[in-house]
Amino acid sequence: MSALSQNDLDYIRELIQRHSAIVLDQDKTYLIETRLDPLARQLGLASLQDLMTALRTNLSHDFQHRVVEAITTHETSFFRDAHPFETLKKVILPELIAKRPPGQRLTIWCAACSSGQEPYSVAILVREHFPALAGSRLRIIATDLSDAILARAREGLYSQIEVNRGLPATLLAKYFTQQGLKWRIKSEIRRMVEFQQGNLATVWPSLPQMDLIFIRNVLIYFGVDTKKAILAKVRGVLKSDGYLFLGSSETTLSLDAAFEPVPIGKTLCYQLRPAKIPSH
Ligand SMILES: C[S@@+](CC[C@H](N)C(=O)[O-])C[C@H]1O[C@@H](n2cnc3c(N)ncnc32)[C@H](O)[C@@H]1O
Repeated sequence: MSALSQNDLDYIRELIQRHSAIVLDQDKTYLIETRLDPLARQLGLASLQDLMTALRTNLSHDFQHRVVEAITTHETSFFRDAHPFETLKKVILPELIAKRPPGQRLTIWCAACSSGQEPYSVAILVREHFPALAGSRLRIIATDLSDAILARAREGLYSQIEVNRGLPATLLAKYFTQQGLKWRIKSEIRRMVEFQQGNLATVWPSLPQMDLIFIRNVLIYFGVDTKKAILAKVRGVLKSDGYLFLGSSETTLSLDAAFEPVPIGKTLCYQLRPAKIPSH
């Protein structure tokens, strides 16, 4: 039986949606409870009921934020799904480098970057295969809603389990140093990524025009209207020949006709369709 009443669950769902736009379906009740349990213990509260009472009486933004963070899924890994990074290496980066005038900077945005494995994978790939790009010719911006997860990303300190997921041993040896039982990413890679807090579902700060945008494994948590609003804003910051990468179970289809799916090997990425010239 559920430890929280329907009323409590609805309260949490509404809180999560207001802060992050994440829609938690009714069948995600277990997720609310299993993720709030450790938070209640951390806060020295005896039960989920006590957590609910504290939440309803303490309306501080920080406290609400901790609840949202506790429930949010931060699942990620180095070189997640592998093939998008192969496509980046073999096709997309060579194409963009050839197209851009020498000296022009490439800008890459990893939105919803979680604990940093995705932007660091891009940085490592560039350092490995396009070393000439790795200095001032590249800007990698990585954003996430959660301040706590961004602090982890900036720290760049990963457990053995985290580095075992997706990171080849040669790259681990080359770009990380062992620190006790953990692995710290070397500063030459950490310095390549600028981390910033950002909520995809609210007004975006002014962003540069992007050559590549990764918004992977986050749209799945939003309702249709939020997905459409985010894709409309992506249109405004993606260069006309830039590429958008989504997660493997995400698509622009039936959400935004401005994007054209572009299959490259196993990867489906997206580009903006050329703007129609009005006929007179
Ligand atoms: C499942 S992780 C995906 C990480 C990475 N992109 C990947 O594919 O491995 C989803 C991330 O989205 C972030 N997130 C959730 N709602 C968000 C929002 N409204 N704006 C920005 N980030 C959000 C979460 O904090 C979490 O770190």
